Amino acid sequence: MRRLLGFCTSTNICNIGKFIEPSVTTTVRIIPLFTSFFCRKFTDSGTNMDLSNMRKSYKNDHECFEENQLASLDPIKQFGSWFDQAVKCPEVGEANAMCLATATKDGRPSARIVLLKGYSEEGFRFFTNYESRKGTELESNPHACLVFYWEPLNRQIRIEGTVEKIPYEISCDYFHSRPKGSQIGAVVSRQSTVIPSRQYLRDKNAELEEKYKDTTVPMPDYWGGYIVKPNMIEFWQGQTNRLHDRIVFMRPKEGKTELGDMQHQAEGGWIYQRLSP
Ligand SMILES: Cc1cc2nc3c(=O)[nH]c(=O)nc-3n(C[C@H](O)[C@H](O)[C@H](O)COP(=O)(O)O)c2cc1C
Repeated sequence: MRRLLGFCTSTNICNIGKFIEPSVTTTVRIIPLFTSFFCRKFTDSGTNMDLSNMRKSYKNDHECFEENQLASLDPIKQFGSWFDQAVKCPEVGEANAMCLATATKDGRPSARIVLLKGYSEEGFRFFTNYESRKGTELESNPHACLVFYWEPLNRQIRIEGTVEKIPYEISCDYFHSRPKGSQIGAVVSRQSTVIPSRQYLRDKNAELEEKYKDTTVPMPDYWGGYIVKPNMIEFWQGQTNRLHDRIVFMRPKEGKTELGDMQHQAEGGWIYQRLSP
């Protein structure tokens, strides 16, 4: 999946316009006025911005997300259904971009975007540097949260779970399937460490390009994949009247077989319930 930067730029401008209520059609006509207003607000006083009027229209009540519209009672399959729709939606620039939140052992959180590189009944996979900030945090606290937000579809998916490193061979296969430039980039970057300048990276990159020009790039031992094994997956769909839909799948606590009040049996050992928005 590749990013379409040019496309994103024009999309973002349109999206800024959509914050004006009440309707998207009205918005299209007033974009130039609104954009210049916003640009002024952002540049004039960068330290004290009033964003209280920024909101957009979502879906109407007849487009709501009812339980009988779930593609599956297996949340991984339901994820697959929404993910496929996001991939096919031309306005979603990078459907597999997700926010990954980790935390230190004493609970100080940090978050960043990474790319989902695969999912299955087992969990959600991404690749990174094991010695990066996220890698260090996951080493001492294996709990993480993933969030997808597909703005043109008014949808969010939130996943919580425990994280494990994926087997070395799988990381290796993926590493070598990437373009050689990306492989070298992974070796060059000791992610999250302080460096003197951009030139430092350029020099190191050139040095490694020369070194590996006729050979394969060995995968560094500080690089590889993780899998987030989910114990909670929440599907959120935005509604214009703010009565947003939230359907949450959870793994029941060990040994707990009875359904709680307003809980329903799902598939694969999952249960689900609806939350107030
Ligand atoms: C769209 C996008 C995709 C990214 N994909 C990845 C990725 O798959 N793996 C990764 O390590 N970093 C990725 N990054 C960079 C991370 O956001 C982050 O800067 C980096 O992983 C260092 O994070 P850390 O210091 O918190 O560990 C991506 C950034 C963006 C904006």
